[in-house]
Amino acid sequence: MPRRIRPHVNPLSITKEYFFEGFENNASIIVDMGACKGEFTEQLLEKFPEKNFILFEIRFPLAEKLREKFAGCDNVVVFDGDAGRNFESIVRPSVDRGVKLETIFVNFPDPWFKEKHKKRRFINEKFLAQCAEWISPETEFVFQTDQKFLFDETLEVVQDSVFSRVEFFDDSPHGIRTDWEEAKVREGGEVFRMKFWKR
Ligand SMILES: C[S@@+](CC[C@H](N)C(=O)[O-])C[C@H]1O[C@@H](n2cnc3c(N)ncnc32)[C@H](O)[C@@H]1O
Repeated sequence: MPRRIRPHVNPLSITKEYFFEGFENNASIIVDMGACKGEFTEQLLEKFPEKNFILFEIRFPLAEKLREKFAGCDNVVVFDGDAGRNFESIVRPSVDRGVKLETIFVNFPDPWFKEKHKKRRFINEKFLAQCAEWISPETEFVFQTDQKFLFDETLEVVQDSVFSRVEFFDDSPHGIRTDWEEAKVREGGEVFRMKFWKR
């Protein structure tokens, strides 16, 4: 297989578990699920240097590169392992201390086409039910994909959950395109976007 073709990692097979007490400061938190090379957070950080950033990236070599990229930034932490499995143990301790969880970006997630693989998606029924227990109505999820079927199926899952306050939007958040978006737009692809909150 050529080196640049990377098979998807089955997140459910990666069982590493992490816990994060939180940042030294109480600034609000932005999460990047599946950060890949981190260019999205890098640009967000330029715009919002006072905020805290939590990045999840399941591929260990990519996570290591992200750690190098953000070395020296006290307000950025990177976790490898499955974001779904670790999301609560990493983010909730800060929220329980009263820190604002501002935005969770789910940018161009792996689509997991097959019915039997849907539970591998970030936004699934079980994940949202767990989030409902501790995430406040102030926190926004931002979901972007170039896969219409994934968008439609995710919308259904969202609407059947307590996170059913949904808004669609057209432009890249804060004018920042991820690498994936750049590639898809170059190919002439369309991007589907929504924000959602707990009711
Ligand atoms: C299609 S890429 C999109 C990358 C980036 N968000 C963008 O928009 O350019 C999906 C990324 O999510 C990572 N990923 C997939 N499943 C994950 C999981 N369960 N936990 C953390 N990262 C995951 C992949 O390794 C990959 O870097």
